[in-house]
Amino acid sequence: MAFLKKLTILAAITSLASGLPTGIRPTATVTLAPIATTTAIATSTIAASSSGSGINIVNNLNQTVYLWSTSDTSGDMQTLTAGGGTYTEQWRTNSDGGGISIKMATTTTESSVLQFEYTESDDTLWWDLSSINLDKDSEFISAGFAVATNDSSCSSASCAAGDTDCSNSYQQPDDVDTRSCSSSAAFTMTLG
Ligand SMILES: *[C@@H]1O[C@H](CO)[C@@H](O)[C@H](O)[C@H]1NC(C)=O
Ligand SMILES: *[C@@H]1O[C@H](CO)[C@@H](O)[C@H](O)[C@H]1NC(C)=O
Repeated sequence: MAFLKKLTILAAITSLASGLPTGIRPTATVTLAPIATTTAIATSTIAASSSGSGINIVNNLNQTVYLWSTSDTSGDMQTLTAGGGTYTEQWRTNSDGGGISIKMATTTTESSVLQFEYTESDDTLWWDLSSINLDKDSEFISAGFAVATNDSSCSSASCAAGDTDCSNSYQQPDDVDTRSCSSSAAFTMTLG
């Protein structure tokens, strides 16, 4: 997935760059270089409160949601209580140069997960939702889910309750729907 995502981002940048005058055309090397050199951040730091430069995930489902913030390794399991439990993550980098995937499940295993995937590069946050590893009978699909930001210039993503083939979330490995926004925006993801 990380490799695929890099290709997708590269394709997006390439198509963006081709529309720019040569003098200000960004090179892939500059744009894709990770800006931080830190290794994985401790989970307690990840969970620190955030307002901007991160995402707040709200569990509006009737049931507990389990979550793993995954870089090159899977983070500790987090628990979002039913009916409003939250998880907050400030953008972080993956020491292997790939992206971060926040995997959400309604069981304590990662066998069926909805993913919020992101890579921060300079001041841009590249992100997408993925249902590729999500079972069609998931509570997330039956209840719907959405991601919004407080930056009106950025796109949001929304999957209506019951939409098993939602175009706002990756359904096939070759789907291209990587989005971008200023990394200083405040993101909110609602489940249900
Ligand atoms: C979004 O909210 C964050 C945190 O309050 C703030 O830093 C940022 O400037 C806001 N962005 C916009 C576009 O309002
Ligand atoms: C939420 O829980 C209540 C009580 O257990 C149940 O009656 C209701 O059907 C549930 N709603 C959803 C959307 O699962």
